[in-house]
Amino acid sequence: MQVNENKEFEPVIVAFCCNWCSYAGADLSGTNRLNYPANVKIIRVPCSCRVNPMFILRAFQRGADGVIICGCHPGDCHYTSGNYYARRRMTLLFSMLDFLGIERDRTRVEWVSAAEGAKFAATMNEFTEAVRALGPNRRLEDLRCRKQ
Ligand code: FES
Repeated sequence: MQVNENKEFEPVIVAFCCNWCSYAGADLSGTNRLNYPANVKIIRVPCSCRVNPMFILRAFQRGADGVIICGCHPGDCHYTSGNYYARRRMTLLFSMLDFLGIERDRTRVEWVSAAEGAKFAATMNEFTEAVRALGPNRRLEDLRCRKQ
């Protein structure tokens, strides 16, 4: 969570992007000069299935207000079936987050190919606005990690 001088809430968004499609899509959006918010902090992972659900919980604990996982479209994973594992894993995690009372809109899985720079920028803009509307993440935040 960040609050600027005008006290307007600026959400911290963590985006896990697979190296082979989504990260290239983010790169393409930059090359095409498409804007997406600076709130989005990209973490490059080899494949979406590399994202352990604990990474997401840890991101929330360390101050993220929203977490998005981006990978190759189903059937296009560089490792054949990694995104299918990621999808199943995230479905379970999302139901656990529901149980914990974490708003469902704070997490998302999106498939973005290397040719979809515009989709990447649009997704990040939309996700950031959705998280901004939810307000700061207070449920899982570890107060010891809050910046003074
Ligand atoms: Fe992109 Fe597996 S390599 S989701």
